[in-house]
This record gives sequence, C-alpha cells and structure tokens, in this order.
Amino acid sequence: MRPEGTTVRLRRARPSDARAVAELHVGTWKAAYPGLLPQDYLDDLAPEDRLGDWEQALAASPWPVVLVAEEGPTLLGFASVAPSRDEDADGTVGEVQTLYVGPRAWRAGVGTALLEAAGEALAEAGFTTGTLWVLDVNDRARRFYERNGWWADGATKEHDWVAFVATDVRYRRALEGPSPGRSAPEVHADAGPFLPGGVNRPHEGTDG
Ligand SMILES: CC(C)(COP(=O)(O)OP(=O)(O)OC[C@H]1O[C@@H](n2cnc3c(N)ncnc32)[C@H](O)[C@@H]1OP(=O)(O)O)[C@@H](O)C(=O)NCCC(=O)NCCS
Repeated sequence: MRPEGTTVRLRRARPSDARAVAELHVGTWKAAYPGLLPQDYLDDLAPEDRLGDWEQALAASPWPVVLVAEEGPTLLGFASVAPSRDEDADGTVGEVQTLYVGPRAWRAGVGTALLEAAGEALAEAGFTTGTLWVLDVNDRARRFYERNGWWADGATKEHDWVAFVATDVRYRRALEGPSPGRSAPEVHADAGPFLPGGVNRPHEGTDG
C-alpha cells in the first residue's frame, strides 16, 4: 500500500504517455492474471505487444478519453472510456474500456478514483449509463466494481485473444455527474492534486 497522505494526481493522458501506459498495462496483467489466463501467454507478454494500440488510442479524438493517475513522475494506473461498442447499446451508453492499477498501488483508492473519474467523463459527455466488461474469473475486479455500485446485467461474451478464448461478463450502472457536496476528482488536463482517500469516502457504503 502507498504511504498515508501521498499525493496522487489524475489527468488526461497525452500521446507521450503511450509507453508508460503499455508497460503498466502488461505489468498489471502479469501480476493480476496468473491462474486466470494461460501462464505461457502472460510470460511472453511484452509492452511492445500493446504499445501500438496505446499510441493509436492516445492520438485518437474524441474517443477514447484516457485518464492516468500518477504520483510524481510515476504512473500508478489508468482508465479509458468511449461510447459503448455493444450491439444492444444505444447512444446513451458509454463504456469503461480499461481500468488498470499497478500492483504496488493496489488497495490505496487509486482504482476507485479512476473509476469515479471515468464515470464522470462519460456523464459529462451526456452518457447516462455506463457498462464495462470483465473476465468472469476476475473475482477481485468483480468485487471492486460491485462495491462501487456496478452490477452484472447478465450479458456474457467470448473474447478471442487468439492465444486463448476468455469469457467476459458485463457490468452496468447509472452514471451521475458531479453533484454538490461530493468531492469529485478533476480530470481535465493537469488537474490539481488530490488524496485518493478524500475522493473515495463519499461513495463508500452508499453503492454496491
Ligand atoms: C481492480 C483494480 C482496478 C482495483 O484498483 P485498486 O486501486 O486496488 O482499488 P481501490 O484501492 O480503489 O479499492 C480496492 C480495495 O481497496 C479498498 N480500499 C480503498 N481505499 C483504501 C485505503 N485507503 N486503505 C485500504 N483499503 C482501501 C477498497 O475498499 C477495496 O477493497 P477490496 O479489495 O476488499 O474490495 C485493481 O486491482 C487492478 O488493476 N486489478 C488488475 C487489473 C484488473 O483486473 N482490472 C479490471 C479489468 S476489467
């Protein structure tokens, strides 16, 4: 866990963040997915496998919106959002496409802050419902989403990763914009510092 009171900042990602995001993405897969995905695949995974996708995503406009959480120069986590790609989604549904926090920062509130900021970025763009897909066997993430007010809506899909096929389940929740009295993180470029604990507490016990 990170030291008490350390300052974490949330900001929009820039194209120059692509390598750090790809490295954190792959490092988090290797830390979080042993036992859930084939170990050979995880062992062979390298940041270069994801770099091109992130370079493309971070250069794209207007979607996805990619948010990063950092402590000084160190990237702790990231999230990306975009309109839903699901066939049954109408224009009111936005998707949290990715949410990853590096293992050294787990359980310090960074994921909650990123998830909240992701929902707000979608709500500010006019989406009223959020969805996301998560590996059915990813119990830690499923518990995390459920604590944050997301619920499994019954949809499942097979995700073909070429080396293996995984089953994803869909989660959903209504999106709320920032409301008075709630200390929401600012997510515009170079937003001011905030403490994850301060961001998270208003949500605890009310959702999920
Ligand atoms: C799922 C994930 C994003 C959660 O991120 P996180 O930063 O660890 O999440 P938080 O710290 O905000 O909350 C997680 C837990 O810490 C607790 N917590 C939050 N702030 C805390 C604090 N200051 N002190 C102690 N615990 C805290 C929460 O209650 C929660 O408890 P739980 O693990 O018992 O459910 C992260 O574990 C991750 O990246 N996992 C691997 C990748 C992944 O599965 N991503 C989802 C793909 S769909």
